[in-house]
Amino acid sequence: MNPRLAGLGAILLLAAALMRPVPLPAAGAAPEPALGPPAGLLANIEHRSTVSLNGTWHVIVDPYDNGYYDYRHQPRADGFFRNATPKDKRDLVEYDFAKSDTLTVPGDWNSQKKELFYYEGTVWYQRSFTYRKPAGRRVFLGVGAANYLSRLYVNGAPVCEHEGGFTAFNCEVTSLVRDGENVVVIYVNNQRRRDAVPTDMTDWWNYGGLTRDVELVDVPAVFLEDYFLQLRRGSAATIEGWVTMSGGSAPVTVRIPELKVEQRIQTDAAGSGSIRIEAPGLERWSPEHPRLYEVELEAGGEIVRDHIGFRTVEVRGRDILVNGSPVFLRGICLHEEAPLRSGRGWSEQDATTLLGWVQELNANFARLAHYPHNRNMARVADRTGLFLWSEIPVYWTIDWENPATLANAKRQLAEMIRRDKNRASVILWSVGNETPLTPARLSFMTALVNAAHELDPSRPVTAALETHYAEPNTKIIDDPLGKVLDVLGCNEYVGWYERTPEDADAITWKTVYDKPLVMSEFGGDARAGLHGGTDERWTEEYQENLYRHQFEMLNKIDVLRGTSPWILMDFRSPRRVLPGIQDNYNRKGLVSDTGVRKKAFFALRDFYRARLAGQPPR
Ligand code: GCU
Repeated sequence: MNPRLAGLGAILLLAAALMRPVPLPAAGAAPEPALGPPAGLLANIEHRSTVSLNGTWHVIVDPYDNGYYDYRHQPRADGFFRNATPKDKRDLVEYDFAKSDTLTVPGDWNSQKKELFYYEGTVWYQRSFTYRKPAGRRVFLGVGAANYLSRLYVNGAPVCEHEGGFTAFNCEVTSLVRDGENVVVIYVNNQRRRDAVPTDMTDWWNYGGLTRDVELVDVPAVFLEDYFLQLRRGSAATIEGWVTMSGGSAPVTVRIPELKVEQRIQTDAAGSGSIRIEAPGLERWSPEHPRLYEVELEAGGEIVRDHIGFRTVEVRGRDILVNGSPVFLRGICLHEEAPLRSGRGWSEQDATTLLGWVQELNANFARLAHYPHNRNMARVADRTGLFLWSEIPVYWTIDWENPATLANAKRQLAEMIRRDKNRASVILWSVGNETPLTPARLSFMTALVNAAHELDPSRPVTAALETHYAEPNTKIIDDPLGKVLDVLGCNEYVGWYERTPEDADAITWKTVYDKPLVMSEFGGDARAGLHGGTDERWTEEYQENLYRHQFEMLNKIDVLRGTSPWILMDFRSPRRVLPGIQDNYNRKGLVSDTGVRKKAFFALRDFYRARLAGQPPR
């Protein structure tokens, strides 16, 4: 038995512990708001039997949380989740969803309504839906993401709640949905909090709302809840993994028709089983050859189909190896900002546009900053052949000593890994960005690194670290967290937040770790169309010049195995208020918010072309 599979029990126990459902109190009783994680996330929900609830929803903007709390700040029994209408002329009901404004789902509220541009608070979403309740099947309400705290209700009854704005969750509603007319009400609050993840200070817009797909999914009474399939490390044709059933134990058949391979597994009492399939002739996935195979997982009278690329990724010394060969990650960072329209991106088209620009740069890698992006990103990257770095929003100065904050971060980590673990494109899990050098932070982050290794032993773990000068012109990476990371990420802003672009030429780098380094951020702002001297900040010439001198510096770093400059596209940030230049945008993009490619875009494209051609990149 492969020791890695032996850990299957441990992985499942950990995931279950991190994601135990805490249903809200029953209807009628004075509900005690309880913050609890949702039910187990169904793998590959998008390829199951679903009914989309996307579209137009009625909304009530509730800055005082009046729909949830009474004047004694006690949760109401008659809150807006009841979706009440007056029984008769005397009946007092002080809200009416049907007559209320509307918003489109998926979508953030800030970019849909001028009056909600800066809004941080509660919005209640409501929509009705006609449903044919499938006999003998279980029904879950799935949400791709709701920023930040959400509470779900169906037909006036509490379902569950979720904290975290960038990870998918689903909750069981089998006993609540009925044939015919149904109503779902979702409370969403995006207020920033010091003890939250992310904390109250970030450099991106706090887009609120139901920002990704909302759907009903129905499954058999005993169904395939989760599975993991990947190439055994160091092998070219041995596929290993596991399956978990929910609701009982049942046989599972895993089939890869194109490879004419199949395995029938009998799951144990807990519904778990392990997979090991020899697949001679398998073509391994890589950016140069993004080969996906249709995989069928048959259980409980249902076939779940997925498209999976098989590849191995590991670290050996200073190298990152994919399918046993060293790779260089020619990358770029990006936020989940919708291309050309701003607001939170969510669709397959958004992903295709953004990742298309990444490939136009001759890049083979994208760092998805600073939170898990929507499910379309990894699906498109799988198909088009891009490596991805996926990160949880443990960003800057988190409440390190708060156990609830750690539990929250761990849950988001588990949800991120659970959704995308079968995506070949995702090669790195990142547990955070630019976190301070304190003992409390070190134990917090180390706990996350250990959790990531336990949840997914098949991928290296990284984080974006900061650096400092060991000597006047020598930068050093000696953050103690580096000890437990597999790949070092490091952010530096020579030429923007410190020194001049030209100073980069003289800077050398040292690291106390014999590990691969990805320079996970560098760059500077430029307003598209603003031109001037290379020493004039905010001009395209300054940004381009900065990049050129970065290339000089980067080429001298012997442990460098990847670069992801900050950032692909200008993105909204409330911290960027310089009139006529920033106007609420961080302008470090190589593409403007209107799609204009700045001079530095072409400098980076040529730098990567040279790397690709194996020429000394300039
Ligand atoms: C930081 C940070 C980014 C931020 C960028 C900037 O390093 O990680 O989130 O946007 O620098 O200042 O532009």
